[in-house]
Amino acid sequence: MNKITHRIYISGFLLISLFTTVILVYYGYSYYSLPIEERFFHPLYELLKPSGLLGHGFGIIGSIFMLLGVSIYMIRKRYKKIFRLGKLKHWLEFHIFLCSLGPILVLFHTSFKFGGLVSVSFWSMVAVVLSGVIGRFIYIQIPRTIQGNELTIDDLMRQNTSINDQLRTEYAIQSSTLSKLDDAGKFGSISRQGHLHKLFFLFEDKWSNYLLLNKLRFELKATGVEGKDLKILLKIIKTKLVLQRRIVLLSSMKELFRYWHVAHLPFAIIMLIIMLIHVGVSITFGYTWIF
Ligand code: HEM
Ligand code: HEM
Repeated sequence: MNKITHRIYISGFLLISLFTTVILVYYGYSYYSLPIEERFFHPLYELLKPSGLLGHGFGIIGSIFMLLGVSIYMIRKRYKKIFRLGKLKHWLEFHIFLCSLGPILVLFHTSFKFGGLVSVSFWSMVAVVLSGVIGRFIYIQIPRTIQGNELTIDDLMRQNTSINDQLRTEYAIQSSTLSKLDDAGKFGSISRQGHLHKLFFLFEDKWSNYLLLNKLRFELKATGVEGKDLKILLKIIKTKLVLQRRIVLLSSMKELFRYWHVAHLPFAIIMLIIMLIHVGVSITFGYTWIF
């Protein structure tokens, strides 16, 4: 998948999720915004109640989306030998898409009333989605190969050295500028700080890199580098700055990500178990949707 195809892939996911939400809110607002006791008299009651044709359908389709989103990703991640199609990163994006759209549909299935045991499933689902957002953020701090294997500190160091060589030989970067860039990657005592401190540091460093890049833009322009060359050079420098930060944060981010799995997975399991009980009870009470 090249850059443009990937952009279309991600935009497609975003547009579908946004479009579905807007349509559901637009169509059902007058129903969902009524107090529970008045809904019975609304013309859309039979369609939008949790056991109605549409309401029930939202629950079934939303749950299928989540089941598919979880199982496809887990199979692709664990059985690389038999299922090699596409990059793992793109399957994770597909996981995020199905596991975001699924919960949106389930939210409309509940018709915004959360009662009984199944509300535990609902709130676990909310917890998985929220923890997913945090996990995704930590995930992208850990550089990986195309096949999704984590890189080691040595791999990152080698990449940094080859960027330095490139800047020196291809772009004739002055050694004073290069040492300024190397200094930006010496984070002093940060490697001895706690994990949370490092998370805050990550944002702080993003901001100081932004300022440094702006300063360099002016300095390089003054030395006659312009247009496309300047753009490419700044892009390489940015890659180097990000890489240096990742080297320092790597072991912490890997550890945080391990802790994170411990939160994401159990909520997913609680949600799935109670959902299965809920489905069993629904079928026992004769709610078989269109079947
Ligand atoms: C994680 C997925 C799901 C969650 C969180 C969920 C949640 C809920 C909630 C909160 C309600 C409303 C309870 C109330 O009236 O107070 C409900 C009702 C209902 N759900 Fe689900 N649901 C899920 C999936 C499903 C699926 C897959 C089916 C179908 C097989 C289903 C079938 C029903 C039915 C038939 C009702 C109406 C029951 C009644 O009116 O007594 N749900 N669900
Ligand atoms: C109801 C919704 C969701 C469920 C049930 C779910 C479930 C799971 C499961 C079972 C895994 C596999 C854990 C493993 O391999 O040990 C996983 C991985 C992951 N999920 Fe979700 N997830 C959901 C939503 C999301 C969302 C909304 C995001 C991001 C915004 C997200 C981000 C991630 C990430 C980053 C991973 C880790 C991938 C890896 O370690 O290779 N998830 N999820």
